[in-house]
Amino acid sequence: MPMIQTVNLTRRYGDVMALNNLNLEIEEGECFGFIGPNGAGKTTTIKILATLLKPTWGEARVGGLSVGPVNARQVRGMIGYVPDYFGSYEDMVVREYLEFFAAAYNIHGQRRQQVIDDVMALTDMAYKADAEVNTLSRGMQQRLSIARVLLHDPKVLLLDEPASGLDPRARIEIRELLKELHRMGKTILISSHILLELADFCSKIGIIERGQMIFMGSVREIVERARVGLVLNVAVAQRQVDAGELIRTLPGVVSVEAADGHLQVGLDPQRGDASLIAERLITGGFRLTRLEEEKVNLETAFMRLTKGLVQ
Ligand SMILES: Nc1ncnc2c1ncn2[C@@H]1O[C@H](COP(=O)(O)OP(=O)(O)O)[C@@H](O)[C@H]1O
Ligand SMILES: [Mg+2]
Repeated sequence: MPMIQTVNLTRRYGDVMALNNLNLEIEEGECFGFIGPNGAGKTTTIKILATLLKPTWGEARVGGLSVGPVNARQVRGMIGYVPDYFGSYEDMVVREYLEFFAAAYNIHGQRRQQVIDDVMALTDMAYKADAEVNTLSRGMQQRLSIARVLLHDPKVLLLDEPASGLDPRARIEIRELLKELHRMGKTILISSHILLELADFCSKIGIIERGQMIFMGSVREIVERARVGLVLNVAVAQRQVDAGELIRTLPGVVSVEAADGHLQVGLDPQRGDASLIAERLITGGFRLTRLEEEKVNLETAFMRLTKGLVQ
């Protein structure tokens, strides 16, 4: 059973189709990167999962429970939701802020102090316990928001663009904190409009455009899927031009171009592969000095994927 699931999730705002039959599945313990441009429907999806918005059609489930009025309380106990804004509270210091929310989660007495100390230690907020929340930097406020949703030890964290508007250092700190929470076994859904920001620590990526999931899989699958063709760099000890002519007619070879001391070979991976090229060159008497696949830039892959599948 997936920890988070949506089935044909649809939400309209008047004429605007914010979500159009969105299907997603996130297993327990997974860190899911929810990527899409502004207006794609990320916040709408997260708010529905957080019980704050009703779908027009379709269903969202958390921990196997249908998100709706009947299960709202139970679902809220399972999730920690960090919205994309920080609500400001006048004249409240960090510890009071956490006490306020702990009380709202029915955490009382000595246990409350313990829980607050624990989340402050985990999010590295202890040295700011007496600072007014309004005076905190955006990065610090973001950490405090995360501390707040950890108070009731939820299994699932829903984070809406937690890194937006942060400086590079604060971004790294948030990222380290999320990695730690992932290691602790939390199921995490985190949204962003920048794939590269999430690629290195999310175990699964979903790409949403105009309210529809256009891709769901691992980062590696994104790269593979987006690849229109492979590029191989091939070098031989001598007679490079002849070598190029020899492999040009092999199945799957779509282009051969001379580059700086080597040949760049465009290959259709459905029809040919690198071993065919190696074999032809060696049997043709060439000494192969280099044969490698060019690394595909993740950002390029992402652009290709979104351009190719939408329109
Ligand atoms: N309260 C609202 N009223 C009308 N339209 C809305 C409202 N909230 C969001 N939308 C529209 O729904 C679409 C999806 O928005 P949203 O879920 O906020 O996307 P994202 O978080 O990916 O930027 C957008 O076209 C947005 O303009
Ligand atoms: Mg949003």
